[in-house]
Parts: sequence; C-alpha cells; structure tokens
Amino acid sequence: MKDRYILAFETSCDETSVAVLKNDDMLLSNIIASQIESHKRFGGVVPEVASRHHVEVITACINDAIESAGITVSDLTAVAVTEGPGLVGALLVGVAAAKAFAWAHDLPIIPVNHMAGHLWAARQVRELEFPLLALLVSGGHTELVYMAEKGDYKIIGETRDDAVGEAYDKVGRIMNLTYPAGKEIDALAHAGKDVFNLPRAMMKHDDPALEFSFSGLKSAVINLAHNADQKGETLDKSNLAASFQAAVLDVLIAKTKTALATFPVKMLVVAGGVAANQGLRERLAAEITDIPVVIPPLRLCGDNAGMIAYASVCEYNRDNFAGLDLNAKPSLAF
Ligand code: KG4
Ligand code: ZN
Repeated sequence: MKDRYILAFETSCDETSVAVLKNDDMLLSNIIASQIESHKRFGGVVPEVASRHHVEVITACINDAIESAGITVSDLTAVAVTEGPGLVGALLVGVAAAKAFAWAHDLPIIPVNHMAGHLWAARQVRELEFPLLALLVSGGHTELVYMAEKGDYKIIGETRDDAVGEAYDKVGRIMNLTYPAGKEIDALAHAGKDVFNLPRAMMKHDDPALEFSFSGLKSAVINLAHNADQKGETLDKSNLAASFQAAVLDVLIAKTKTALATFPVKMLVVAGGVAANQGLRERLAAEITDIPVVIPPLRLCGDNAGMIAYASVCEYNRDNFAGLDLNAKPSLAF
C-alpha cells in the first residue's frame, strides 16, 4: 500500500503548530510555536493577540514541518485541521491556512475536534484498544469520555464550571505566579504538605457521580489568602500548592475510578495540558493498576498539531472530509 502523509494544523489557542504524520503512527515532525511570552503579562490568553501571532508564523511553521519531515509537498495525501473548540479568531487562521493549502495542492481536508486530538496524542505511546475511557484535562475542558470504538466519543461526565487547568491558572494568579501556573504549582506542591483542608466538590453520595466542579475550590483558596492577608500573615506557598493539588487530584482520581467501575474498559487514557502534572501521573500509577493507563509524553500533552494528525487518521479512514466551506466551530462538542 502507498504511504500516507498527513499535514496537520492546530491553532485553537496560543500555540501555532503544524505536523506531518506518516501512516498511522510515525510522527515525522511536530513544529510548535508558542506565544506564551506575549500573553504572560496579561495573565491569560488575549484572543486578538493570539490570532495575529498565528497569522505571522503559520507559513514558516508549514515550511518547517514539511522540511523537517524530510518530504516534499507532492508526497502529501491530506490536510487535517482543528475546526474547534477554541478561540474563534485563532481557529480561523488554521482553518483558512489548511483550506488554502489543500486547494492549492488539490488535497482533501480532514476536520478534527481539538479534544479528540488531546485524546489521540496517546497513540504516540501505543495502539489504542476499545472500549476505552479517557480523562481529558486541559485549560478549557475537564471531561470523562467513553469510546466504545474508534470515532465514537461519548461524554459521561464533565465540569459544571471551571476546567482543571483554569483552576490551576486562577489559583496561580492568587499566588502571584506567572501564567500559565500549572507547572509551577505542581513543582511547589512536591515541596509542601496538604495542611489547609480545601474542599473536594461533588463527592457526596447524592452528588452526580461523574460531574466535576472546581470553582468552589478556587474561591476557598481566595478566602484563605484574604483571611491570611487581613491577619498580616503569609501563607506558605508550597503548602498552599500541595493542599490545592491534593484537593484536585483526590477528585480526579475518585471520579475516574467511579467511571471505570461503571464502564469496564480495556484502557484508560489521560490527556490534555494538565496530564503533564507529575502528581497526577504518580497517583494514577499507584492507584490504577488493573488496566493500562496511557498518558502522552509531556511534549504531546499541551496543544500541538501532532495530536491532531493522530486523531485525523480515524476520520480519514471513515471518509470524513470537509469542503472548502469548512468554518471554525468555537464551541464544538463531541
Ligand atoms: O491542553 P492545553 O495545553 O491547552 C488547552 O487546550 O486548554 O492546557 C493548558 C493548561 C493550562 O491551564 C496549564 O496551567 C495546564 O494545562 N498545565 C498544568 C501543568 N502543565 C500545564 N496543570 C497542572 N500541572 C501541570 N504540570
Ligand atoms: Zn488543548
């Protein structure tokens, strides 16, 4: 059979990324241009700034991805692109670039859901087996997804308010850490102790078993910091980070265990930016031992086009192609 090469685009938030995947599992290149330095001073991603940066670097990323893959444009079989969810202006840059490239080189376009991309990043580690359960934890989403088979995504639980990554970033702001704060809180947590007894939401027996809520936890940290401030005390940053992280991880692990007990599966995938969390990785390894737990390597946990390429394979095999009328879908769900 002829080799298949997919050129994938990801621009849903603050990373401009283009990748080349050969056949099902050979990621030949995965160029990631991060804009984080431009957003840090605002304490979050500024949509307009994000779109402008994507426009500036997307062409260089395309050329880099093709060149570092060691192929030429004529080798390509298809173009894949994140159609949503994400920031509309940011998504539009990737969608427009992918459509222009596909039109110019007469290639089919594969539309990909960004969260399916996070999940399929696990394909870098090993072949996925179905049924599977995925815990997807990122800056914008926190969801448990059941996949009976390839391409069949069913959300069985999600957050009612903040996403986990969002909670990390908001708590980081209270602690005067730079955005995004997940990695730093994770590191601080390792040096501290869970002494502040922060709330674990949605854990009572009559609460929805697979739903999450993290906004109360964020408010509890705000109150703690405010009370300490009024008393002229300073909170120990490591202990605060450890207490916050323990509360988050207790909930993530408990809900995942409940989901696994309700939906027997062959493997658990844990993916998204927060899957980079060392504390989460340690607890998963210690507490979920009866099925394989597949977590993408660190570089594939954050946003990147490699994950979009992996996810596009299954759409390609199902002939799920888009026309040149493809549009960005900022609130796309599974
Ligand atoms: O998946 P991602 O790169 O972008 C979205 O699609 O949202 O996730 C970014 C999020 C940020 O909120 C960041 O703080 C968080 O992932 N994050 C972490 C860690 N590394 C990144 N959260 C906790 N622990 C980490 N080590
Ligand atoms: Zn993401």
